[in-house]
Amino acid sequence: MYFLAIETSCDETAAAVFTEEPAILANVIASQTDLHARFGGVVPEVAARAHLQRLLPVIDEALRQAGIGLRDIGAVAVHNTPGLVGALLVGVSAAKMLALALEVPLIDVNHIEAHVYAARLAAGRDIFPCVGLVVSGGHTSLFHCPNPLQFDLLGATLDDAAGEAFDKVASILGLGFPGGPAIEREAATGNPQAFHFPRAFLKDERLDFSFSGLKTAVLYTVRGQDATRPVSPPPPGPWRADLAASFQQAVIDVLVEKSRQALRRTGLHRLAVGGGVAANRPFRQALERMAQEEQAELFIPPMKLCTDNAAMAAMAVEKWRLRHEAPLDLDAVATYRPRRQPIAQS
Ligand code: KG4
Ligand code: ZN
Repeated sequence: MYFLAIETSCDETAAAVFTEEPAILANVIASQTDLHARFGGVVPEVAARAHLQRLLPVIDEALRQAGIGLRDIGAVAVHNTPGLVGALLVGVSAAKMLALALEVPLIDVNHIEAHVYAARLAAGRDIFPCVGLVVSGGHTSLFHCPNPLQFDLLGATLDDAAGEAFDKVASILGLGFPGGPAIEREAATGNPQAFHFPRAFLKDERLDFSFSGLKTAVLYTVRGQDATRPVSPPPPGPWRADLAASFQQAVIDVLVEKSRQALRRTGLHRLAVGGGVAANRPFRQALERMAQEEQAELFIPPMKLCTDNAAMAAMAVEKWRLRHEAPLDLDAVATYRPRRQPIAQS
């Protein structure tokens, strides 16, 4: 049984082919980073148009790499939420068209939940029940995941997502877009203790996050308190590297400590991490140390499965086993409001 999956929620046009094991046969990603870089962020209309131009060639390439034809496809999976609605619509329309024409099931997959599932896919074995941490450009959420299809929200960001904070601080420091990898590079030579930036809710019971105060603290350090002054990015050198390293450390401290609290409070010993920020090496190392201290197993997929991709839609296999199909009037939904659950011990 072959599944074809489609991802167009933001600025990557992606298609994947996997089997029901699930095993990945192809994972093709056409990045639009170059298109958006000159705007300093993703422009929704530009993203949607680029998806339109690229999606069919990307699907063709995925089929070619998997060594199969369209007629071999047994089900079509698509990320239909959350994301930029115009961008999502391109993928959802294509998936519906293919499911209808091939007379195969259509399976809807939540993009955020799929980021957690990417860890299951990479592990090649069951990782549930686990705590799931999704840290991307649009989301920072902690979940209690009793099984591959249940995601109970333990906490989320109340303002900026962690990746968004990386992108905005990179822009303040004049490091370009996307900000995450640029900050990581800059921070490599900086002192993470040079500035003490705020760590919101660190001592708080809640498992929620807030990164907008941190971003503002970096802004004030660079520009001074006078809001009428223009922001001019600092010149390259140790001061800029220290700013990047201290900012990165503040984000890491909060993400790692909240994950530790989530493990303790659910009584679970497995942590699955996904989303673009999970590509950050110092973050991965800090998670590894914490997991060792908590005697927990840590599941972080390799880079290509951390950032946006269609292979993580292999969560569709779990739905397909239970015959959870989507209707052909499936819609693209921009916002995701997961269930908030009181913390239960597993
Ligand atoms: O999951 P993703 O590819 O797309 C979304 O669904 O948002 O995540 C993209 C985000 C961006 O904000 C990017 O700056 C951040 O992940 N990111 C990183 C790194 N690589 C990507 N953040 C920190 N360090 C990195 N190495
Ligand atoms: Zn994502």
